Amino acid sequence: MNTPQNPQTKPRILVARAIFPEALAKLEEFFEVRSNQADQVFTPAELQAELATVEGALLAGSERIDANALSKAKDLKVVANISVGYNNFDVPAMTAAGVMATNTPDVLTDTTADFGFALLMATARRITESEHWVRAGEWKKWSIVNNPLGMDVHHSTIGIIGMGRIGQGIAKRALGFGMNVIYHNRSRLSEADEKACSAKYVSKEELLRTADHVVLVLPYTPENHHTIAAKEIALMKPTATLINIARGGIVDDLALAQALKNKTIFAAGLDVFEGEPNVNPELLKLNNVVLAPHIASSTEKTRRAMVDLAIENLRQALNGKKPPSLINTEVFPG
Ligand code: DGY
Repeated sequence: MNTPQNPQTKPRILVARAIFPEALAKLEEFFEVRSNQADQVFTPAELQAELATVEGALLAGSERIDANALSKAKDLKVVANISVGYNNFDVPAMTAAGVMATNTPDVLTDTTADFGFALLMATARRITESEHWVRAGEWKKWSIVNNPLGMDVHHSTIGIIGMGRIGQGIAKRALGFGMNVIYHNRSRLSEADEKACSAKYVSKEELLRTADHVVLVLPYTPENHHTIAAKEIALMKPTATLINIARGGIVDDLALAQALKNKTIFAAGLDVFEGEPNVNPELLKLNNVVLAPHIASSTEKTRRAMVDLAIENLRQALNGKKPPSLINTEVFPG
């Protein structure tokens, strides 16, 4: 970081959600900080009012930044998400307002890929359902058949939809389990990247029909809304699992709940939900779904790295430099 500036001339920034106290202290050396350590989620009107008074903002990735949020933000230069996903940004509106948008790629790739694989294992092998069964005192004796029978992960086919950095991380982990890796992505990977993951590109339909485990890692965009709905689930094998670590809205959660209830597919593992933190009540009734509270990147080390990268983005932008993970590069005046 640069030398602290005169308090009078420190740029004003908003830290819209609670962050690590050390990170807040670091920010306070350089900025006049308006923080929200109470971690209350701002309403759109509150966020609009907060943004009206600052030059930069750090967000958790859930606050919507659109033309309305920006309408009074005359001094705002940068909004830094503490997340790799940035579907909370209306990027064209930010660009039109001359506001830099940044995210936190790379630092969470391995942690998130680890979690995707953990969720797949928990789902296929019925780990959380089994734990509930044990805690409920249902486990009376060891049995060949009368206990939760799962689906194998090793040497099965994993189908990854969304083959960016995290998708490729999951593919590489799958190789350790001797899995056959197929993928679908907006654009095909280079030959070298396909080789590194031993991954075969297939159509979405082929992937859904042939994968034993379907893992969703694609970004949320309006075009990706309900990428997996009743029609797509119907293509999957009755023995298949569906894992969503991408974003709520990519899966039609109600259609999924119905399919799980009817055993159209074997099980699902979900870290993200439509309308989270609310979870569709139909999903809550089911045993064959593993539910997690959007924690794929949530390790102490990785969350600290995400906050640090977001701070670096903010600091560079407010120092007139190009932030390391600038999304709308056309806004950078250099
Ligand atoms: C991300 O970084 O996008 C995670 O999903 C947390 O929002």
